[in-house]
Amino acid sequence: MTRSLLMETVLNQLLTAFQHFFGDTRQVMVARAPGRVNLIGDHTDYNDGFVLPMTLAQAVYMALRPRSDRNVRLYSLNFAEWATFSLDALPGKGTRWVHYIGGVVAELHRRCLLPSGFEGVVYGDVPLGSGLSSSAALEVATLVTLQNMFGFAMSGEEAARLCQHVEHTYVGVHCGIMDQFASRLGRAGHALFLDCRTLAYRHVPVQLTDWMFVIIDSQAPRALATSGYNERRAECEAGVAFFQSIDPSIRALRDVSPELLWAYPNHPSPLIWRRCRHVVEENRRVLEAVTDLEQGHLEDFGQCMNASHDSLRDLYEVSAFPLDLIVNVARSVEGVLGARLTGAGFGGCVVVLVHRDACSTLEACVRQAYEKHFGKQPAFYPLGHNITAEVLWRSASTDSDGCASAIP
Ligand code: GLA
Repeated sequence: MTRSLLMETVLNQLLTAFQHFFGDTRQVMVARAPGRVNLIGDHTDYNDGFVLPMTLAQAVYMALRPRSDRNVRLYSLNFAEWATFSLDALPGKGTRWVHYIGGVVAELHRRCLLPSGFEGVVYGDVPLGSGLSSSAALEVATLVTLQNMFGFAMSGEEAARLCQHVEHTYVGVHCGIMDQFASRLGRAGHALFLDCRTLAYRHVPVQLTDWMFVIIDSQAPRALATSGYNERRAECEAGVAFFQSIDPSIRALRDVSPELLWAYPNHPSPLIWRRCRHVVEENRRVLEAVTDLEQGHLEDFGQCMNASHDSLRDLYEVSAFPLDLIVNVARSVEGVLGARLTGAGFGGCVVVLVHRDACSTLEACVRQAYEKHFGKQPAFYPLGHNITAEVLWRSASTDSDGCASAIP
């Protein structure tokens, strides 16, 4: 199915569902925000470092309209479940879909940006719990839809920060800024090179001609993800404290040069040093990889991906056997330039850079090996036309085709 046909289908489903639950589609606004895959630069964002994520074609969609009272009534098509609350009694903390939306609503309400309640339907096709940022997509989709429906001003950077704050405060995940930033400010046809300290960013065209990225979802449970993630953050802080005691100008691992790192091998402990080494070297790799992508040096880009995975596996220790298996099998296929885990690790997905002609061999080899070891199949998501967070439709629109463009 072509991209626009797919969008039309989702849009029709959303509007049909809206009409079914709420009677008509007057005053409705439909917007979406994509999930993301990270091409390189993992566990660098909360160390003030560099990342290179890219949005997916999969997104969270919302069809909303204002209400005349202060109530919020939402129906999730994925969970076949209602959530109702009022602006005066918000859902609070938790990890269900309503808590992500509720957190964004609470923050907008706190800033006096919501003139009334609202109602609508929510749908997403970003795989859940796979490390492809379905939660960031849900937060950003909520914000973008409400922003366009109620017409308040908020920069993309501020929106990303607000959504990150929601994740910290309402969901309890102490994530970096990468996922929310990528979902809100990523652009179709491009990867997003972001400096997580200054939030300066650049859209890097992804023109791969005969090559493509394929995401392979291990479907392995990410049970340790939250505790392991928080542990890694604490280990990085211990590293910062040590290097700061040598050079007080150091504020984050971003500031530690390779020279300084190697001047103190195994300090303050072998484990903390390994964590620091990953971050210091991963930052360099992102800078190299961005240049490689911009200059079309895909073999070098693939090498950076491979080195990144090996470092996440051996130094940062966030890989998992299913991910290593996929990576090893993928790398053995002729036509594969690079393969690495993507996101936090502990399960989730691998991203592979592969020649288009080798795609089916890659899939067959990985399926066979994975089935043999785990008795189940991974999922494959070729990274085709990635998308931008945008308004898709508004009723009584002045646009003749009813479609609006990407948000500014
Ligand atoms: C998760 C977090 C991000 C980032 C990655 C690892 O996706 O949400 O902020 O830290 O892990 O790179």
